[in-house]
Amino acid sequence: MPDLVDALFDISTIEYIWLDLVSPDPARNILKKELFNTLTLEMDEIVDLALIFSRIIDFRSRFTARHSAGVAKTAEKLAQLFGFSSYECKMMLVAGYLHDLGKLAISDDILEKPSKLDEEEVNEMRAHTFYTYHSLEPIEQLKTINTWASFHHEKLSGNGYPFHIAGDSLSIGSRIMAVADVFTAITEDRPYRKGMDFKSAAKVLSNMVESNALDGRIVGLLIDNYSELDNIRIASQNEAAEQYENFLLVCSEQSDT
Ligand SMILES: [Fe+2]
Repeated sequence: MPDLVDALFDISTIEYIWLDLVSPDPARNILKKELFNTLTLEMDEIVDLALIFSRIIDFRSRFTARHSAGVAKTAEKLAQLFGFSSYECKMMLVAGYLHDLGKLAISDDILEKPSKLDEEEVNEMRAHTFYTYHSLEPIEQLKTINTWASFHHEKLSGNGYPFHIAGDSLSIGSRIMAVADVFTAITEDRPYRKGMDFKSAAKVLSNMVESNALDGRIVGLLIDNYSELDNIRIASQNEAAEQYENFLLVCSEQSDT
């Protein structure tokens, strides 16, 4: 039936369809539902727990050691500037800490590859938000936070990944996270390159608004409050970097004994 073949071709470009078919259950449930059935946390406690998770996610590699710290604090501030309540800003902070949770399922070889990823490796890397989504899915209390965290590589045009959510279906929280992630990724220093300055970063972000990837209102807020946001990002990333160095020190002391 040609209609069914056409329909198959249509959905075949959406990564999560294939990820759903090939992903074994353990990889999709990093956090087991049962673990949380007896535990109800207040939002401040969730923030503390998410911060610990963010360090577990980031400290796997020097390449990512400070990333979630910058994303979380940037997203929290953007949410505040957008008019979110203080409770919602805390939710955004949690979403930022957990947005790359799925990277725990990505191999070290790919996370730390010094050269360009090949096509297969890009596909594996792109699965990380699929894993974030399915890891948080069993936790009812994190339902909204999950969508803010897991859709950070989706684009308003529908050409993001892996769910290809478009336009109005992308909530303001998800759009804020996407901006915070791009902003942090391009401005943070990495072991192999220096972060962009204001002019270059503003250009990249504006181009992404033009191509209908990012929300222009949120990028506008970021550009209007750039130095405040950049200082917040730098302070949180410096704090994470300091903790990472201490963590390495403790690791090396333990391996000596
Ligand atoms: Fe990501």
